[in-house]
Amino acid sequence: MKYNFDEIVPRRGTNSYKWDSAGDADVLPMWVADMDFRTAPSVVEALKRRVEHGIFGYVRVPDAYYEAITRWFAGRHGWQIEKEWIIYTTGVVPALSAVIKALTTPGDKVIVQTPVYNCFFSSIRNNGCEVVANPLIYMNGTYQIDFIDLERKAADPSVKVLLLCNPHNPAGRVWTKQELTRLGEICLRNNIWVVADEIHCELVFPGHTYIPFASVSEEFLMHSVTCTSPSKAFNLAGLQIANIVSADTDIRMQIDKAININEVCDVNPFGVEALIAAYNDGEEWLEELNQYLFANYHYLRAYFDEYLPEFPVLPLEGTYLVWVDCSALKQSSEDIVKTLLEKEKLWVNEGNLYGEAGERFIRINIACPRQRLIEGLNRLRRALK
Ligand SMILES: Cc1ncc(COP(=O)(O)O)c(C=O)c1O
Repeated sequence: MKYNFDEIVPRRGTNSYKWDSAGDADVLPMWVADMDFRTAPSVVEALKRRVEHGIFGYVRVPDAYYEAITRWFAGRHGWQIEKEWIIYTTGVVPALSAVIKALTTPGDKVIVQTPVYNCFFSSIRNNGCEVVANPLIYMNGTYQIDFIDLERKAADPSVKVLLLCNPHNPAGRVWTKQELTRLGEICLRNNIWVVADEIHCELVFPGHTYIPFASVSEEFLMHSVTCTSPSKAFNLAGLQIANIVSADTDIRMQIDKAININEVCDVNPFGVEALIAAYNDGEEWLEELNQYLFANYHYLRAYFDEYLPEFPVLPLEGTYLVWVDCSALKQSSEDIVKTLLEKEKLWVNEGNLYGEAGERFIRINIACPRQRLIEGLNRLRRALK
């Protein structure tokens, strides 16, 4: 390996949400979805050059930004995005909120596939809309889309949007072309927009391929909006940069208006520089990161097989967020998380944060050096036994 993902980089004392939220310095945080690795060296270099300039006024986003995005998605994912389709904003959650505002009116319904990323619920409700759950089916140790339930719920004329998580946090699924096609066809038939949150799209493991929803067909492109960011893959969440991709000119104008109403239309100079450097010069680093994360996942699985076989670990096809079935404990996920924190000072996420369907599960963030992963697993084992 050219890059050293084993390096322990102390994060406490850097105003890290993940590390500095616990008052106790012995707490090991494996919760919030950011990584304990330094980003790609090309990104660090670009940011250093920008800092050296010393003037941090308002930003005009340059052509190089759009070129970096379009080249990356065409080259890596076979999706040809036009520059005009892109609207930048301060994060994927602000993007989702603005897109929902643009595509709905208060009182409309939005489908989500639970368990799912918790901010989906707030983005929908903050826009005065109602959440309709299309729970994933948990069967044979993994998750599938419940297409029968989806057909039924999509037939309700008040449903205007389906919020898709592709790849899915926390289920760890990377949706296949067949699954996306079936889902998209149901939405098309019922006049429902698909809003695809594809923030985890670069974190995909061998045997699986990320398919941009909008790349499946021209019709899907014209009836969907995609939200992306390099922030998960390159560990840039604090730099607050994300993009909305919409090929429909009228919808794009409405989204632009919503972005302005919500006042999330101005980005910062570091986010812009980091995105350009990541997409232009970060691919080799990203490949190694994915190898390292996949090896972490294998380590964790082997550990569970040996020491914690009563807690099934779900297959991780993408993301660095491992979903563990703790129903053997017969406790609420909140109680489980509380026990882990109190007994062993290990902080993971409670499954019910992601909807009722996540009850009795926990989510573990494995984007950390192996040594830290092992420490976390040892704490988990001691607390659960
Ligand atoms: C599916 C998903 N969307 C969005 C976000 C957050 O995006 P941002 O920080 O750009 O608002 C996360 C963070 O974990 C996520 O998992």
